[in-house]
Amino acid sequence: MLIFKKVEEIKKYLRPQQQAGKTIGFVPTMGYLHEGHLSLMRKAREECDLVVASIFVNPIQFGPGEDYDRYPRDLERDRKLAEEVGVDVLFVPEKEELYPPDYATYVEVERVSEGMCGASRPGHFRGVATVVTKLFNIVRPDRAYFGQKDAQQAVVIMQMVRDLNMDVEIRVLPVVREADGLAMSSRNVYLKGEERQAALVLYRTLKEAVELVRCGEKDPEKVRQFMADRVAAEPMARLDYAEVRQWPTLAVPTKLEGQILLALAVFIGQTRLIDNMVVEVP
Ligand code: PAF
Repeated sequence: MLIFKKVEEIKKYLRPQQQAGKTIGFVPTMGYLHEGHLSLMRKAREECDLVVASIFVNPIQFGPGEDYDRYPRDLERDRKLAEEVGVDVLFVPEKEELYPPDYATYVEVERVSEGMCGASRPGHFRGVATVVTKLFNIVRPDRAYFGQKDAQQAVVIMQMVRDLNMDVEIRVLPVVREADGLAMSSRNVYLKGEERQAALVLYRTLKEAVELVRCGEKDPEKVRQFMADRVAAEPMARLDYAEVRQWPTLAVPTKLEGQILLALAVFIGQTRLIDNMVVEVP
């Protein structure tokens, strides 16, 4: 596996491969890799000639007081894991490589980035859209892989790709869970002692909400309130949001029909966790 730190070096390596007709699968990450990331890399391995992954903790998608400084980092471990699943090229730029002191350009995706995580984390999706645009311009992938755990992020990226006529196919793959149902996340390492058990409230609540919908509940507000009440019943949890949206448009439904996204963001102690499930309503 090759490792590049500089934009010009990775471009110089990739362009001749692309000219030779090789398809590139790209998995952008912030590192501290887990099975969720690895599932994206394995899929890219299956579907593309060359697999490129990036590890970059993107400062501009973190708000003031968020966990940018303490976000978990372990490049040596990540390098081994990426190599084991067949990544060909790892891009690990320094902060100054992507954002030199005179940096001034940002990508703003309207509407789908508002509400949900966009409301709790102002500027977050602007940071995500900007870095993903930069990474797409550097790598020029044929396909890029994202996890459905960050459902709103995936929708923002798909909107951006359509709006800006980017030549990349976005693949969104299912949430990967621990044996007990907790959605995999690099931030799970923050959970201490009893918090790990309390964090299961997200999975439990989503499963119960899916059941409620499957049993015929058609009122989005009733399902949303049900989720909020279930989270409130866990003493260690504090609800950030419970949302019921149309998938994948994120439109607010008046009646539950078609593909419905049930989404939660919950604080367990200091740790903010998100999770979601999509249910098909006939
Ligand atoms: O999902 C993530 O890890 C990040 O938001 C991404 C897409 C790598 C952009 O920094």
